[in-house]
Amino acid sequence: MLIKRVPDMPASEITDERLYWGRRQFLRAVAGTAVGTATLWSPASPAVEALEAQASLQGLEKSGLSTTEEPNSFDDITSYNNFYEFGLDKEDPRRYAGRLKTRPWTIKVDGEVGKPAEYALDDLIKLNQLEERIYRFRCVEGWSMVIPWVGFPLAAVLKRVEPTSRAKYVAFTTLLRPSEMPGQRTDVLEWPYVEGLRLDEAMHPLTILAVGLYGKTLVNQNGAPIRLVVPWKYGFKSIKSIVRISLVEKQPPTSWNRSAPQEYGFYSNVNPDVDHPRWSQARERRIGEFFRRKTLPFNGYADQVAGLYAGMDLRKLY
Ligand code: MTE
Repeated sequence: MLIKRVPDMPASEITDERLYWGRRQFLRAVAGTAVGTATLWSPASPAVEALEAQASLQGLEKSGLSTTEEPNSFDDITSYNNFYEFGLDKEDPRRYAGRLKTRPWTIKVDGEVGKPAEYALDDLIKLNQLEERIYRFRCVEGWSMVIPWVGFPLAAVLKRVEPTSRAKYVAFTTLLRPSEMPGQRTDVLEWPYVEGLRLDEAMHPLTILAVGLYGKTLVNQNGAPIRLVVPWKYGFKSIKSIVRISLVEKQPPTSWNRSAPQEYGFYSNVNPDVDHPRWSQARERRIGEFFRRKTLPFNGYADQVAGLYAGMDLRKLY
């Protein structure tokens, strides 16, 4: 997942070969859309305008589950992103995600449930009390941020559809729309992006569906209009632009595990004691800070979540 850029070295020497070729394919995919190239590269791009024009979300409650750490700036959070549907560089999502149409948007909640449902996004939001949740966010690549999300517990959504006794896991799927997501016209990942949680992880009060950021609706590069946030896991578990949530019996496939199973496991709990095969996870760089800081087990949420993994060997189940 990590693409390290070292000046004066060809990208192919320092980048996963697949990502290197993916980047070339991506540039071709974007260039193939004449209108897109003309508008996306101009300074007044739709992405920048969309960012300034986000609607305020009303009636937010403050959450006791928020960290008291200082949040990163809106600019940090919306300009340094991973969203492979829009490219491989950290700046690509802000540059290219403006073209994604996030209304109308429907989310299906189905599978092993008594009452499957399909919601228009705005109806789903109305059913839930919105909260501001300020969470630490740790990317597997070694950077971190503090993000003031707006959202509601995933558990509330799952309980409403009445999971059956066969439901053991929850599978999430991102929108598949290559016409608006140029990365989906490349084979850097298998599309659509998919993720999964064990049912007890999904029902945990810290796990939320986020629909906003800094009191406003999400900007596209952060996963508009609705994305998952699981603060004790590496950031890639937090799947963006979700269209389907399915309760399932068996452990579902996940995009990064499918792409590189020896590097990315199903659980992906933040764990400073288990290194990634290609780099240490002991420390992290908080975006905006100069010195690196120690990474905390479960990203600092051990008191709340360590019990979910009692008796499991988290070196093997990484
Ligand atoms: N969801 C989708 N659909 N596509 C992606 O490429 N990237 C993941 C995750 N969710 C990704 C995704 C990764 S690797 C990270 S670190 C986080 O989103 C980044 O979230 P942020 O850009 O809001 O910080």
